[in-house]
Amino acid sequence: MDHFLYRDGALFAEDVPLADIASAVGTPFYCYSAATLIRHYRLFDDALAGMDHLVCFAMKSNSNQAVLRLLAAEGAGMDVVSGGEYARARAAGVPGDRIVFSGVGKTGDEMRMALEGGIRQFNVESEPELQMLSAVAVSLGVTAPIAIRVNPDVDAKTHAKIATGKSENKFGIPIARAVAVYAEAAALPGIDVVGIDVHIGSQLVELEPFERAYAKVADLTRTLRAEGHDIRRLDLGGGLGIPYTRSNEAPPLPRDYGALIKRCVGDLGCEVEIEPGRLISGNAGVMVSKVIYLKSGEGRDFLILDGAMNDLVRPSMYDAHHDIVPLREPAAGVEQQPYDIVGPVCESGDTFAKQRPMPPLAAGDLVAFRSAGAYGAVMASEYNSRPLIPEVLVQGDRWAVIRPRPSLEEMIARDIVPDWLQDAD
Ligand code: LLP
Repeated sequence: MDHFLYRDGALFAEDVPLADIASAVGTPFYCYSAATLIRHYRLFDDALAGMDHLVCFAMKSNSNQAVLRLLAAEGAGMDVVSGGEYARARAAGVPGDRIVFSGVGKTGDEMRMALEGGIRQFNVESEPELQMLSAVAVSLGVTAPIAIRVNPDVDAKTHAKIATGKSENKFGIPIARAVAVYAEAAALPGIDVVGIDVHIGSQLVELEPFERAYAKVADLTRTLRAEGHDIRRLDLGGGLGIPYTRSNEAPPLPRDYGALIKRCVGDLGCEVEIEPGRLISGNAGVMVSKVIYLKSGEGRDFLILDGAMNDLVRPSMYDAHHDIVPLREPAAGVEQQPYDIVGPVCESGDTFAKQRPMPPLAAGDLVAFRSAGAYGAVMASEYNSRPLIPEVLVQGDRWAVIRPRPSLEEMIARDIVPDWLQDAD
């Protein structure tokens, strides 16, 4: 459920008509609903009630300061994957002991930053990383709390580019090697082993792969404890999928996911962390765009929008489906017609949808891409010198620009022409 609904024929974000925001900030833009973000966070928090737990928002899905502040105020932790994300989380007021640091390629500088600033735990993905982290911690006179990310060799049954739990993926250490690597970790002077981490992929629409992975983690917990390790925390990753189409998708609910977690690891007495991103932010955001032209092609009609693949890359990159709906509610029973919906960028990959049935649309009409709050703005670029589009947050009847659209001058001013080229003209 989200808070983007038609009222009196117009699409609203909570109590604000999206068309009003479009008039004020121009198109395209992202708009997030605070009520939806909070609701989704609480679904997870409630699903784990009764267990010692922390919901760490995977901020790679949406890292705007306003979004982070909203979730941090709810008590959320953060899952970060770079020094930049760590700094953003801290800037949004998230205490270090609520931040977990994931990722296969943390640099020494990033480790130092987190150790100095405060960190709940590092999720370590390789032996070289373990050694580097120990060395950095020793140089600072501290120990680094760690979980080791194990790769359970489970098929997450999701898009190949976002599956992470198979042995051929670059993530984690093979679970079969875990005993040896934990022994190595325990012997390192800068390392404090606190738990186990697993994450098998994103946009999972079944619980079964989670269940297989978590069963392996539960077994490993018992094995490692028998080896003398004090395993007191389990990070079970993110990845629960969302419905991208209103009609026919019903991925498992956080409630069922929470019940599964309790069933698989509830008897171990561990503190549990999860790292959901998409389910919290995905359906809490839309991208609003305007039809520039309606172009009749050979046997097909193109809707050319002012939004493009640089603004929302998921359709080009993962063949992802986003529902696209007009801001003005179509009359009941209106006949739909197929359109190819494209952006202005100069490559054929800049296609949002092919032969998508839509109510009739004309130049100047506004449309909203649903489910665009996760992996939307954060993956945007300025390809074709199209400035990053603004982000807006709605809460009740209030709204605010939470990242402005840069002017063309600001965009160009970030480049530096070396002095030897300055006099060229
Ligand atoms: N934890 C780790 C270690 C991850 O790698 C990810 C996502 C998450 C948590 C959050 O997963 P989520 O709950 O959001 O599914 N750009 C792609 C998705 C990439 C996901 C990468 N890792 C997309 O637009 O579909």
